[in-house]
Amino acid sequence: MSSPRHATTDNGPITRVGVVGAGLMGAGIAEVCARADVDVLVWESTRELAAEGRARILDSLDRGVSSGKITERERDRAALRLRLTTDLGDFEDRQLVIEAVVEDEAAKTAVFRELDRVVTDPRAVLASNTSSIPIMKLGTCTSHPERVIGMHFFNPVPVLPLVELVSTLETGDAVRARAEAFAQQVLGKQVVHSADRSGGVVNALLVPYLLSAIRMAESGFATPEDIDRAMVLGCAHPMGPLSLADHVGLDTVKAIADSMYAEFKEPLYSPPSLLLRMVEAGRIGKKAGHGFYRYD
Ligand code: CAA
Repeated sequence: MSSPRHATTDNGPITRVGVVGAGLMGAGIAEVCARADVDVLVWESTRELAAEGRARILDSLDRGVSSGKITERERDRAALRLRLTTDLGDFEDRQLVIEAVVEDEAAKTAVFRELDRVVTDPRAVLASNTSSIPIMKLGTCTSHPERVIGMHFFNPVPVLPLVELVSTLETGDAVRARAEAFAQQVLGKQVVHSADRSGGVVNALLVPYLLSAIRMAESGFATPEDIDRAMVLGCAHPMGPLSLADHVGLDTVKAIADSMYAEFKEPLYSPPSLLLRMVEAGRIGKKAGHGFYRYD
């Protein structure tokens, strides 16, 4: 049997990870950690949401088996690595915590304040999967901003190989090295580095593209189906921009655009009216069963 891969740095291996939030991203992050043989504790706000989160992770592990990516034994082993909790106080012994709650500054700062209180080991890394909230805003909620970093994963997390690491003016070198070693050596991801700018590298390019596609559909320039077909067939993208927006969640796309617009004041990040109306109507994409497309 192969021994577990562990991120080895000056501060010792990371073998105990906490994930805050078991939605689309949190569940994916927890899954890849468990698959890498790391002990994973996942927080959700209620027992019902925790149960849903666990089911989401187990479903994805099953998909991994049915698509031949993992064996049944690996799935069962990963499932044993996962525990769910509704008490952030249980994160006391975590060496790395990855926050993946809703893309809302108040929600995230509340989590970081609590993590600062609970996770007392000064070598522990506090990471955020935020897509667009400046990491410094989360670091300043804590008494040790040097241990706060952005670790931005991509959906679906078990499939997409990238982690964007976002260091602030205060992030410690050892913290950056530890997060990078964990992403690469333990999770097998590839890393790019970004300065602490709202959206990082990927969303600086992706968000204007998604918003342009929404404006195009809004103006009647082309149908959503034709916009998507154009990019899939003409540019070999795995999915078109409106399918992708549905896949990310239109509420999340709007939240990211709002943060980026607040940071850069550039019209290209301003959420179009159609996006605002769809979010108000609850048509927020795949997870709601209805966005630019219907999902049964
Ligand atoms: N575990 C392991 N592997 C899995 C899996 C799982 N749970 N689920 C699917 N896979 C694998 C499949 O086996 C398949 O592998 P092969 O290509 O080797 O056969 C591959 O993933 C594709 O899966 P499917 O065939 O089921 O589905 P698909 O071909 O329709 O692809 C998709 C679906 C992966 C979502 C693809 O359309 C895609 O990559 N789309 C783009 C997604 C994207 O751009 N995401 C980034 C969004 S931005 C973001 O997340 C961050 C942000 O800040 C907004």
